[in-house]
Amino acid sequence: MSSMFSSLVQLAEGDIYPFHMPGHKRNMPDHRLSGAYQLDITEIDYFDNLHRPKGMIRQAQKKAADLWGADESFFLVNGSTAGILAALSAAFPKGSEMILARNCHKAAYHGMLLREMKAHYLYPNLIEEGFLYGSILPDQVEELYKKYPQSKGVFLTSPNYDGVVSPIREISEIVHGHGGILIVDEAHGAHFGLSLEFPESAVTQGADIVIQSLHKTLPSFTQTGLLHLCSSRIQKESIQHYLGIYQTSSPSYLFMSTMEQCIEMMGKEKDVLFPELSRNVDDFLNAVKNLAHLQVLNEQFARDRGMHQFDKSKLIISTYGTNISGKELSDRLLDEYHLQMEMACEHYVLALTSICDRPEGFQRLAKALLEIDKGLEGSFLQHKPAGLEIFWPKEENIAFSISEAEEAKKERLPFVRCANRISGEFLYLYPPGVPFVVPGEYITKEMLCQINLYKEQGLSIQGMKDDTLTCLEVIE
Ligand SMILES: Cc1ncc(COP(=O)(O)O)c(C=O)c1O
Repeated sequence: MSSMFSSLVQLAEGDIYPFHMPGHKRNMPDHRLSGAYQLDITEIDYFDNLHRPKGMIRQAQKKAADLWGADESFFLVNGSTAGILAALSAAFPKGSEMILARNCHKAAYHGMLLREMKAHYLYPNLIEEGFLYGSILPDQVEELYKKYPQSKGVFLTSPNYDGVVSPIREISEIVHGHGGILIVDEAHGAHFGLSLEFPESAVTQGADIVIQSLHKTLPSFTQTGLLHLCSSRIQKESIQHYLGIYQTSSPSYLFMSTMEQCIEMMGKEKDVLFPELSRNVDDFLNAVKNLAHLQVLNEQFARDRGMHQFDKSKLIISTYGTNISGKELSDRLLDEYHLQMEMACEHYVLALTSICDRPEGFQRLAKALLEIDKGLEGSFLQHKPAGLEIFWPKEENIAFSISEAEEAKKERLPFVRCANRISGEFLYLYPPGVPFVVPGEYITKEMLCQINLYKEQGLSIQGMKDDTLTCLEVIE
């Protein structure tokens, strides 16, 4: 069977006239993207259908399952977001209770909202300096299960946005021992499980469903991802049913062919590409090892802080204890050195690397950090930031489930008047999109102070209806 990509090229070069969607008719010759338009089609004869794949899409999905070691893999064209919604819907009954790591992406919370579920939260430990989350530990999962044995399963994110990995093998044994289902959001770990240089994927460690964004860390178009089904605890038909609901009925063949090409490339070149990335990262870490004020975290740092594992493709550049914030460092890297970071927050900057990076990029970043470092004051371990614990609600501070809060009557109040009121909205920094205020939870004065600080630092707060960030919806 020919590949999707070669079939698209053949179609573009052939004489079949398109009396079908899309409206651009593969005919945008003077456009900068003319080549992409030529390959952009919908389901037509001789091409497969994502929602009932029998040909080239099925073949590519099978290759993905073989590569990562899943029972079945499914293409995601609406990102990991669609995979997370489908996984939660297929795995847990509507209205049920589950255990959720509090540092999950908003998509998991939206899944709970849609399925009217109630969460019992796992709080990842903050490292001793208090600016970064560590791993979720098996004992924490066991403890919550003892308290809430009615929980139908566990949803957690590993690696998290910063590359911190949790011990999935041990956690999955606990979850299965309680008859539950383990879903792992591995959106940031599509490159896991493909080499010895980077961590093992949750797919081969006992998770029942694993969701990966191919576009985040591998060469594939934005919006593409994979849902891996890894056990028979969830029915394949149920996953297909919900993917049919949450994904578009017009999947882009451009998206799907880049997924196919990515899977193909991993199969053939992973043994060369990942060691090369690993060497580039090591050279970079070596080049910046004598920074006086900034610090680039490495695997040793992670081990010393009790993290299970750390994905070294994530470069966490800490400004903690210095006279510069993460956001200020990120702005300087962009304005003065033309280096765009993935994310900046209060005390660090995250640079994401991949097999497609060039040594030149690493060298430019190292040079910039060494130069900026010379002009800084203060050093690591000077003061302890507030920490995100202030946003973690105690049980008595959760008044309603997210779906109950969604339906409740609300009023819009200026921030200053929201202390001790129940939030009707989500609040999160984007990126990383991890909600720190969840509908149905009491808002405290400390939270409002921290939100003010975020505003002052120019961090992007999202989730509220009021774009001016002055008012919040609270439950009446
Ligand atoms: C941990 C995590 N999960 C899921 C998602 C959603 O992924 P996507 O953008 O592919 O829908 C993100 C997005 O940033 C994320 O950080």
